Amino acid sequence: MKHNYQAPRGTVDIYGDELACWQQVEDVFRQFMHLYDYSEMRTPIFEDTGVFKRENDSSDMVNKEMYTFTVNNKDSLTLRPEGTAGVIRSYVQHKLFALGEGHNKFWYFGPMFRYERPQKGRQRQFYQFGVENLCEKSPYVDAEVIAMGYSILKALGLNHIKVLLNTLGDAASREAYRTTLREYFKPYLDQMCGDCQRRYEQNVLRLLDCKIDHDQPFMNDVPSIRDVLSEESRAYFESVCATLDALDIPYEIDDRLVRGLDYYTDTVFEVISTDEASGAQSTVFGGGRYDNLVDYFGGPQQSGIGFAMGMERLMILANAEGVFEDMQSPLDCYIMTLGNTQQMGVVLATQLRAAGYRVEMNFGKRSMKSQFKSVERFNASTVLIVGEDEIANNTVTLKRVKDQLQVSIPMDQLVETMDEWLMDTEEHHHE
Ligand code: HAM
Repeated sequence: MKHNYQAPRGTVDIYGDELACWQQVEDVFRQFMHLYDYSEMRTPIFEDTGVFKRENDSSDMVNKEMYTFTVNNKDSLTLRPEGTAGVIRSYVQHKLFALGEGHNKFWYFGPMFRYERPQKGRQRQFYQFGVENLCEKSPYVDAEVIAMGYSILKALGLNHIKVLLNTLGDAASREAYRTTLREYFKPYLDQMCGDCQRRYEQNVLRLLDCKIDHDQPFMNDVPSIRDVLSEESRAYFESVCATLDALDIPYEIDDRLVRGLDYYTDTVFEVISTDEASGAQSTVFGGGRYDNLVDYFGGPQQSGIGFAMGMERLMILANAEGVFEDMQSPLDCYIMTLGNTQQMGVVLATQLRAAGYRVEMNFGKRSMKSQFKSVERFNASTVLIVGEDEIANNTVTLKRVKDQLQVSIPMDQLVETMDEWLMDTEEHHHE
C-alpha cells in the first residue's frame, strides 16, 4: 500500500538551488551580526502558552493565529508565532540582564508558526531572521537598529525598499491618543468593519491600519499621535529621525503605522517593498521598541528594541531583483570509475576532500560517455579517471577541463597535482 502525503497547507519544503540561495542570505545575516556584535540565541520552537498570550493582548496573532495544544492533558503549549517573546523569556530566565554588556544583543533565525490564510509571501510555517537589542533605551540605538536592518537588505541587493517610521509614544501619550481616536472615530463607527467595531474599545490604535476601511474618506483626516505626544516622547522621536538622517537612511513618517503586536512603545517601524510587480506581501520586516516585556517576564524594568524579517518575503524580492543569478557552484573534481574500481574511487575521493577539494564520483555501472555527461552537469574543473589498468600500475589519469590537458600520474601525486592546477584559480575552493 502506497501513501501519498504532501506538506501541510501553508508549509513548504526548501531544497536544492533555493536552499543554496537561502544559505547565501543567511551568510550575510551572520556577517552583519558579527560586525554589530550580536550573539545568536536559539530558543525552543514551543513555549508555555502564557509566553505569547499575555494579559490584555488583543492582537490577531495571539487570539486567532496560534497553534496551541496540550499533550497528555498537561499544560498548554504553543508553537512560537514570533521570536521576541521567547528571547525575552530566556533573557530573564537566565538572568542575562545581570551580566549586561556582551550579553544583551541577540539574533535568531528559525521557523515561526501562524494559522493564517496562505498566499504568496504568507505561510503558516515561515522563517524569521530577527534581532533583539536590550542595551540602553536610546534613540541612537533605535536608529542604529533600523539602519542595520536596512543595510542588510541593501547588502543583499534589494533596492526597491522604503522605511516607514512612527512612534507610539510613552504610556501617557498613548492613553491620550486612544481618547483622541475614540472621539474621532465615534461618528464613523457604524460605517466601519466588524473588526474595527470590536477593536474600538480594546485596541483603538488598530483602527488605523485596518485593511478594509483603509480607503474610507474619514481615514485621511485621522489625528496624528504627534498632536498629543509628551515632550519627552517627542524629543525621543525627533532624535531617532535626526540620527537616521545622519546615517543617510531614507524613511517616511507614517502616522498610521501601529504594528500588529501589542507590546510596542515609542519607536515602531516597517520596511516595505516598493516593487509591486513581485506580488509578495509588501512588509519585509517590522519591529519596534518595547518597554514592558522584560518586566512582564519577571526581570527588571528594562526596555528593548528589535525587528524580524520574513525570509520567504525577502527571497521573493531578492529573486525579483535578480540577486541570485550566478548560483552554479562548480565541483573541483569528478571521479570517473571504469570497471571494478569504485573502492579505489572512494579512497581517492576521500583523500581529495581531506585536502579541501569538492568532489563527486560515479557509483553506478555507467559508460564513459554517460559519466562525461556528469562532468558537464556538475561543471567540474577536473576529471579523475580511475580504470582497472591505472590501478594495476598505481597511477591515475587527471584531466583539466578548461584546456583538456591530460596527464597520467602516480597515485600518490594526485593531491599535489590538483594543488598545482587549481591553486589561485577562481574555481578553486581549497584553502
Ligand atoms: P511581525 O511584524 O509580526 O513582527 O513579523 C515580522 C515579519 O515576519 C513580517 O514583516 C513578515 O516579513 C514576516 N511574517 C509575518 N507573518 C508571516 C507569515 N504568515 N508568512 C510569512 N512571513 C511572515 C514580529 O514578529 C516581531 N517579533 C518583530 C520584532 C522583533 N519586534 C521587536 N522585536
